[in-house]
Amino acid sequence: MDEQFWDDTPIAAAARRAAKVMTPNALSLPRPEKTRKITIANQKGGVGKTTSSVNLAAGLALHGLKVLVVDLDPQGNASTALGAEHHSGVLSSYEMLIGECTAAEALQRSSFTENLYCIPATIDLAGSEIELVSMVRREYRLSDALNQDFLNEHGFDYVIIDCPPSLGLLTINAMTAVDEVIIPIQAEYYALEGVGQLLNNITMIRQHLNPNLHISAILLTMYDARTKLAEQVANEVREHFGSVVLRNVIPRSVKVSEAPGFGQTVLQYDPGSRGALAYLDAAKEIANRGDYLPTEDSGPIGRAPEGENN
Ligand SMILES: Nc1ncnc2c1ncn2[C@@H]1O[C@H](COP(=O)(O)OP(=O)(O)O)[C@@H](O)[C@H]1O
Ligand SMILES: [Mg+2]
Repeated sequence: MDEQFWDDTPIAAAARRAAKVMTPNALSLPRPEKTRKITIANQKGGVGKTTSSVNLAAGLALHGLKVLVVDLDPQGNASTALGAEHHSGVLSSYEMLIGECTAAEALQRSSFTENLYCIPATIDLAGSEIELVSMVRREYRLSDALNQDFLNEHGFDYVIIDCPPSLGLLTINAMTAVDEVIIPIQAEYYALEGVGQLLNNITMIRQHLNPNLHISAILLTMYDARTKLAEQVANEVREHFGSVVLRNVIPRSVKVSEAPGFGQTVLQYDPGSRGALAYLDAAKEIANRGDYLPTEDSGPIGRAPEGENN
């Protein structure tokens, strides 16, 4: 076959992109000084929380960072996407929260890369909102389980917690266990619906339960570049939230939605796809720019450090 012709086929181009993505470059992202603990939250369902949790985690892990995903949604979709076992009876975030096992005991390694770990969720977690109510330190059970000794022992660079789409005790546990919140916002009608409520809740948790909690990034998801609407929503979100919004957006892509059906992240399922590359770029952006802390007048919302042209 004509070599030139072969090189120009879409398959060849995709293969080249995939090879680029999958060639690990352990030194290409900065390792945080201490574990960055992040929860992906938005009480609206279907905005891309789980998809973002697992694919950002995979993107960071692919660059040699050691990442733990904690699945705190009884649906267990993050566990599925990471290929973690999560049938009833498997040690999971449920047993960990109610004190029946340690975080180390519930830990599973993802099939994707040796740097990616998961504490899975099983359906047992569904009852935990009620069970937790009467427990001591009910808001801090996760924080206690993911203690510094555990994190140091395993050398995790990132812990990413996937939240259920509600603001109950599970989400509160996630928000006391982390410093950073990343909010995925779907570039669609009603994008900001519920976000005001989420901000109020984060402010309340900052005041009463975890003074370190803040929004370190906002990620626009399911962005359809062919529509005017997506662009409008993106502009609106950027105007409203400023530099905390990531420059990289995640396109709407069939590959992204297909991947979990194969127990994979999109980075594994189709590493050369637009969705995979977008998540990889967003992961890089998060790692390279570091934590965005709030300023005096920005409430719980992070801002680019001074001097950074955002
Ligand atoms: N970028 C994307 N392109 C296409 N489909 C997506 C994308 N991100 C998420 N989805 C799909 O949208 C649905 C909701 O996403 P999910 O991550 O489960 O949201 P949440 O965790 O907020 O409920 C899922 O079926 C998922 O596969
Ligand atoms: Mg989810």
